Amino acid sequence: KERIIKAELGEPVSKEGKVYNVILPVVAGNEHYGYIHLKINSEDFSKILRANAIKRTIATTVVFGIGIVISLFLSWMYTRPIKSDVDAVKRVAAGDLSINLRTNRKDEVGELTNSFNFMVERLRERSAIEEKLREAEHLSGIVQLAKSVAHEIRNPLNFINLSIDHIRNKYLPLNERDRRDFEDMITSIKNEIQRLNGLVGNFLDYGKSLKLSVQKTNLVLLIQDVISLISARAEKEHVKIFPNIESLPEVCVDPEFIKTCLLNVILNSFQAMPDGGNLFISSYSMDGKVFITIEDTGLGVSKENIQKIFDPFFSTKNDGLGLGLAMTKRIIEEHGGKITFESVEGKGSKVTLILPVKNVNSIDCR
Ligand SMILES: Nc1ncnc2c1ncn2[C@@H]1O[C@H](COP(=O)(O)OP(=O)(O)OP(=O)(O)O)[C@@H](O)[C@H]1O
Ligand SMILES: [Mg+2]
Repeated sequence: KERIIKAELGEPVSKEGKVYNVILPVVAGNEHYGYIHLKINSEDFSKILRANAIKRTIATTVVFGIGIVISLFLSWMYTRPIKSDVDAVKRVAAGDLSINLRTNRKDEVGELTNSFNFMVERLRERSAIEEKLREAEHLSGIVQLAKSVAHEIRNPLNFINLSIDHIRNKYLPLNERDRRDFEDMITSIKNEIQRLNGLVGNFLDYGKSLKLSVQKTNLVLLIQDVISLISARAEKEHVKIFPNIESLPEVCVDPEFIKTCLLNVILNSFQAMPDGGNLFISSYSMDGKVFITIEDTGLGVSKENIQKIFDPFFSTKNDGLGLGLAMTKRIIEEHGGKITFESVEGKGSKVTLILPVKNVNSIDCR
């Protein structure tokens, strides 16, 4: 099977830089098998090897570099939310329950963040309930204390009142002028006693259950009555009253209590406008309910105080008991109604009393 291959020297066909192309014909016997194409590189081969080695090193470094950057980015993407979760857990442990972490992720990290938010929400609810309980305990303590103090004050107050009457009868000066001064003094002492007695009464009344004596009431007349009661004071305190009273259906309420409610709310408006202002009193009926709104251009209530205004004994005034709105709320709710309070600090407040129009023809409602 051996063949003699005779190769005749071919001719260089081309030259590309330092590379020679040589083509050799392959002939065995008389048969022509084809050609061998040789490339002869006349360059320094070790130089090429070195250049290739450098290229390979650079390529390897670049590939590794990109790999490291991508893995760093991936690990940062996963560890960053975990780190912020860990920070948030530390803040919650320190008592900050206002945290709410944001995430759009649907993977395990997103799930972890959502569970964390859920847990904090539950903790917030629990803490709100605990706070309410604490307040209720605190309040019932205050109410008990206030009641016992009120009782303790009322007895000596009655005694002082009687003694004053006794002094008035027994020691009345004979001289006309002295007698007038004496009468004035006695009257102002008795007025103060009466005021104190009224305050004590308010304390005690708050603890008692309300006994409503309901009757068919024309609220328009009642509101007009209240407006005429306050108009002298309004003029003195530079408060302009803007009534807008629509005709209302008759309601079944205790008129005296409702009058007290309106006066409590209006008094607060006066107190909130020490330099005068506007007082809008309006009424309308809708969906079987009567709405009475009292709006002032007074100081308004701050955001943190607005939740507390109906709490008994919450007051921002030096001489306030903090029972006006608490009592009003109780009376309105006892009538099956609702009271709302809206306010913007520095602009004014709006109180709405909502009373149901019902049972006007019932036996209780004469
Ligand atoms: N119209 C209002 N404008 C601004 N603040 C108001 C208004 N009405 C109520 N408030 C705020 O709500 C608090 C509670 O009112 P509330 O009538 O219950 O008590 P008070 O007026 O302080 O005392 P009291 O009515 O027992 O004399 C007030 O101290 C005041 O801070
Ligand atoms: Mg008040």
